[in-house]
Amino acid sequence: MTKRGTRRFFLGGTLACTVLFVGMTIDSHRQFGRLTHADQITPAVIQGKHVWHRKDCINCHTLLGEGAYYAPDLTKITEHRGTAYLQAFLKDPSKFYTEARDRRLMPNPKLTDAEIDEVIAFLGWVSKIDNQGWPPRPILVSGAAIPGTNVGAPAPHAASNEPSEQGEALFRTSPPGCFSCHSVSPGVNLAGPSLADIGERAGTRVKSPDYHGQATDAAGYIRESILHPSAYLVPGATYSAGGRSFMPDNFGTLLKAEQVDQLVAYLRTLQNSQ
Ligand code: HEC
Ligand code: HEC
Repeated sequence: MTKRGTRRFFLGGTLACTVLFVGMTIDSHRQFGRLTHADQITPAVIQGKHVWHRKDCINCHTLLGEGAYYAPDLTKITEHRGTAYLQAFLKDPSKFYTEARDRRLMPNPKLTDAEIDEVIAFLGWVSKIDNQGWPPRPILVSGAAIPGTNVGAPAPHAASNEPSEQGEALFRTSPPGCFSCHSVSPGVNLAGPSLADIGERAGTRVKSPDYHGQATDAAGYIRESILHPSAYLVPGATYSAGGRSFMPDNFGTLLKAEQVDQLVAYLRTLQNSQ
């Protein structure tokens, strides 16, 4: 190539790349409002972002994969945990995790009730950002290595017509994210109790004297647990407070009636024989 040709090649290449770069930058900025639901940035969301920075949550956690990798990614945490649980957790994390069992702890961030609601509003807004599949799979607090949760594994039987198999696939999908709080292995209690033997347990629960819900049989009990979690509270300080279950109470609107049937069918198959 001659000297002139080299110069032309250099200038032309630089120009083409610059145009491409500027064009893509403008295009990204054009889409930010839509992808991030900018219209949903309420004053509480903004306050929550200030709390997030003031308390240096990013020193341990990631959002959209950005931040420190000491503690779990919180991009989808409101989808996986729900408000009631998060309020209780942020008030006193040490009630939920112990150093002996979890090997790492979150210090109490000492937030006021208002700050807690604000940071949850911020995280709720983050969870709705269209992140186009990033991070690629949920990074959960305790799920990954725990038997019976199968986080990140492809949902089995997704194409099946059998209600209980469809229910199993749904159980492992997020939303609704049942798997992020419930293991199906005996004795493995996450944010919610293990459901290993719920097929049997449900039948004895409705007959116990401290049950005051509406259900009369096992299927009814499981259905009620999904739609009205506070109708009966499984004993445990990390499961409920003030008569309110930490399990989200919006599955009645989130799930179709048919999907609730599928989950009930699946959970009824879980017996203690494994
Ligand atoms: C010093 C590190 C550290 C800081 C700072 C920190 N966290 Fe955490 N966080 C953790 C760890 C570790 C966990 C995992 C649970 C555990 O072992 O305590 C966690 C878990 C969580 C969870 C998930 C709980 C669950 O059970 O799903 C939420 C939500 C959370 N943190 C929010 C926050 C917020 C909001 C802030 C800032 C106000 C914050 N964290 C600051 C270390 C930290
Ligand atoms: C944020 C965590 C969380 C999520 C998500 C969650 N649960 Fe729960 N679940 C709990 C907690 C905590 C309890 C125990 C307190 C209570 O009785 O409501 C519970 C209780 C239950 C029970 C009753 C267990 C028993 O021993 O009587 C069933 C059944 C159940 N959940 C099913 C589901 C299904 C199905 C989904 C998904 C649609 C789901 N849960 C999602 C936290 C969660």
